[in-house]
Amino acid sequence: MQLWLRLPLEKSEPMENESEDTGYGSLGAALSDSWESWNSFRLLCEHSNQLCVALDIRRSLPSINSLFRWFGEPVRAAIIHTDAFLTNARGYPCLSKRHQKLITSFFELSFQVVISGQLVHSIPEESFAVFPSNDNDTINEAAPIRHELKPYVDYVAFLYQRMDPLSEQERFEINYRDFLQSPLQPLMDNLEAQTYETFEKDTVKYTQYQRAVCQALLDRVPYEHASTSQTVLMVVGAGRGPLVRASLQAAEETGRKIKVYAVEKNPNAVVTLHSLIKLEGWENMVTVVSCDMRHWDAPEKADILVSELLGSFGDNELSPECLDGAQRFLKPDGISIPSLYTSYLQPITTSKLYNDVKSHKDLAHLETAYVVKLHRVAKLAPAQPVFTFVHPNFSANRSNQRYTKLKFEIPFDTGSTLVHGFAGYFDAVLYKDIHLSIEPSMPTTTMFSWFPIFFPLRSPVYVPSGYQLEVQFWRCCAPSKVWYEWCVTSPVVSPLHNVNGRSYWVGL
Ligand SMILES: C[S@@+](CC[C@H](N)C(=O)[O-])C[C@H]1O[C@@H](n2cnc3c(N)ncnc32)[C@H](O)[C@@H]1O
Repeated sequence: MQLWLRLPLEKSEPMENESEDTGYGSLGAALSDSWESWNSFRLLCEHSNQLCVALDIRRSLPSINSLFRWFGEPVRAAIIHTDAFLTNARGYPCLSKRHQKLITSFFELSFQVVISGQLVHSIPEESFAVFPSNDNDTINEAAPIRHELKPYVDYVAFLYQRMDPLSEQERFEINYRDFLQSPLQPLMDNLEAQTYETFEKDTVKYTQYQRAVCQALLDRVPYEHASTSQTVLMVVGAGRGPLVRASLQAAEETGRKIKVYAVEKNPNAVVTLHSLIKLEGWENMVTVVSCDMRHWDAPEKADILVSELLGSFGDNELSPECLDGAQRFLKPDGISIPSLYTSYLQPITTSKLYNDVKSHKDLAHLETAYVVKLHRVAKLAPAQPVFTFVHPNFSANRSNQRYTKLKFEIPFDTGSTLVHGFAGYFDAVLYKDIHLSIEPSMPTTTMFSWFPIFFPLRSPVYVPSGYQLEVQFWRCCAPSKVWYEWCVTSPVVSPLHNVNGRSYWVGL
């Protein structure tokens, strides 16, 4: 059984200098925010996943930021009242640009759209059988009107049909939307052939690497030495060879001579790597080394170290620990690609993911990180940088432990929010200005190798309007594992999550 709460989509807007603590504006009128009613009800019902929302949409809409909150809630239907419609030049119903945008977002989130009310437009009789145009977009199909609300339904259908079709990437990702996955552990586990196959389809990622290697080769070897100087390039964590291919192509493109070592610890991937090298006739240029980069006794030092050991949160697949081991065989002035990566965090409302995590009914699932294609999510504030790692790092007292405290300002006009956890991302500098990024404000477009990571909160945190959200994050290291701990410290204090890596850790 599901219970749908029907709520008006409304929030009165306080002035920025008015105190919201009292809930009263300057005229003494109570501030109303239907999200607050919803939130109180779901808290009373302990976040029951049987509770859903139907939103009544009228002519006036609250601020965009306050609307976004609903994107992370279990909204099933948007009920548009006929009085929300404007009238176009030909007398037909249409919606304001803001309404159009909102309804399109609802379609993207699979909210059901319902029309309610009475015919409030006097539609010209003679054109009853033909749907009119809005903003010069015409619908050719003639449709006789069977119901007095049909002009409204047709208009909403028109908005739906006007949406861009899903891109190839979106079609690929659709089955992963809001589906929690355990992060890969490529160091402790050996990846499966299927996983490599998926990686290898991401041409954007390898193009970025090729551009980075090109630039590094050009910087390393001046034009006048191109025919005499040989660059030693090591691909560490070579998998089935796509970065070896990208490096060889970069050498060809720049006219530089390279000698490649391909180091890989997964014996199954090594078999495929050998076959590739034979098939491509690269035997004279590439040496395959089947071992863990942290323990390899390299016969010579590298000019360039190329790796892709990044997780959705940058360092969460233990790139720092692996590259610390590998930099032993990098020349003191050698180049690491990537040269730097930073993780990012962003508070989110996501009642679906929270309920999925909670359904396991144990502590461990509530303090584990998940990889997930975020979809029905409200992003409450811009993402902020968390931890940065730079390679190579030859400093004597380097440590991969990290701690940071972040303060998120949720935009004033959002209203109060409920934070179910944090979305995590990364941005990596491969070389100079060549990046790989999944951070929402600067993503590498059409790259699909990484979904965001999600760090849940054991109990969602209510952030009253105008309050800051303060969160603290640790990256902890022990001889056999690395893990994160996290907590919220304002506006309320949450328990410390994942103490000593008791629920979630990454094996070294
Ligand atoms: C994310 S995959 C990338 C594979 C390939 N370079 C690509 O871009 O498609 C990381 C690879 O690094 C390997 N790897 C991870 N840690 C390693 C280590 N310490 N030594 C050698 N290989 C490692 C994994 O087995 C895996 O094949």
